[in-house]
Amino acid sequence: NGIRPFSSSSVNNAIQNVTIVGGGLMGSGIAQVAAQKGNNVTILEVSQDQLKNAQNIIGNSLGRVAKKLYKDDTDAAQKFVQETASRIKGTTEVKEAVENSDLVVEAVIENMELKHKIFKALDEAAPAKTLFASNTSSLSITEIASVVNRKDKFGGLHFFNPVPVMKLLEIIRTEDTSDSTYEALLAWGKAIGKTCVKCKDTPGFIVNRLLVPYIAEAVRMLERGDASKEDIDIAMKLGAGYPMGPLELSDYTGLDTGVFIMEGWHKKFPENPLFKPVELQKKLVAEGKLGRKTGQGFYNYNKANKL
Ligand code: 3HC
Repeated sequence: NGIRPFSSSSVNNAIQNVTIVGGGLMGSGIAQVAAQKGNNVTILEVSQDQLKNAQNIIGNSLGRVAKKLYKDDTDAAQKFVQETASRIKGTTEVKEAVENSDLVVEAVIENMELKHKIFKALDEAAPAKTLFASNTSSLSITEIASVVNRKDKFGGLHFFNPVPVMKLLEIIRTEDTSDSTYEALLAWGKAIGKTCVKCKDTPGFIVNRLLVPYIAEAVRMLERGDASKEDIDIAMKLGAGYPMGPLELSDYTGLDTGVFIMEGWHKKFPENPLFKPVELQKKLVAEGKLGRKTGQGFYNYNKANKL
């Protein structure tokens, strides 16, 4: 049951109508890449304000993608942005969001109770054929799927931030995921241009299982005063070829995300020293220093003091 990478060549793919639950950074990115490849996308959110927010995230990102694809050809760039955006609609109604859906991808905050509530409602409202997936980065797919009847049609689709740029998609199967569901998720991942890797339903799957303890170890290093934050980041960029250093990456993904993941895993697996929460990470979060999104994390992102 080894892990094989899959190329992102186009395939005949049955999934055309996709519903994204949650229009935050991850959900908007997933909606965008699906629409860019011709899917009809519906974003389900709790309010018109949140839908507007998703529209803004997608608009900004599509502008960057268009610039890259079409350089100075502004007409072609504009056409690409308009056509892609026209394939994305928003709603606050569950029934409307899933009535024609082939696949639902949930990308809401990492709260098991909330995910259960959402999937219960989706299970009642969606046609029998609709596949379900969660973009959770650290919770158990099996536990999330426990509230639905269609456990054979449930899997994990874990994307990376920024979704329009990062090429990887982790595809997670549980003991209950059927072969046909798994194949369909894989085919869809390829069709939207991602390179897919398979993983069992384990804490953090592949990437976060390695990345989260690595970031925590970098913070422990900083805490001990072994090296400065700048030098830790420079070292991993120039010595290991990472695009961002661990502390920079933590600011990028959000310190709160890292702390939440570590605390959850520590609770479940208290004997594992790699999952032991780090005081400095917790302190910064308690002070509201969550990284780029709050203007301050390990680094200060206020304009006058930009990294
Ligand atoms: N939408 C569209 N395009 C974007 C974008 C976005 N949101 N963000 C960046 N880009 C594009 C830029 O336009 C630029 O395009 P160009 O090459 O044509 O100029 C290109 O990506 C590179 O961006 P920048 O020049 O702004 O900056 P960098 O070269 O530093 O790249 C980065 C930015 C892609 C974020 C890079 O630093 C990187 O790969 N960082 C590591 C990210 C990472 O590890 N992500 C995984 C985090 S873990 C995770 O997501 C799991 C979750 O569950 C927590």
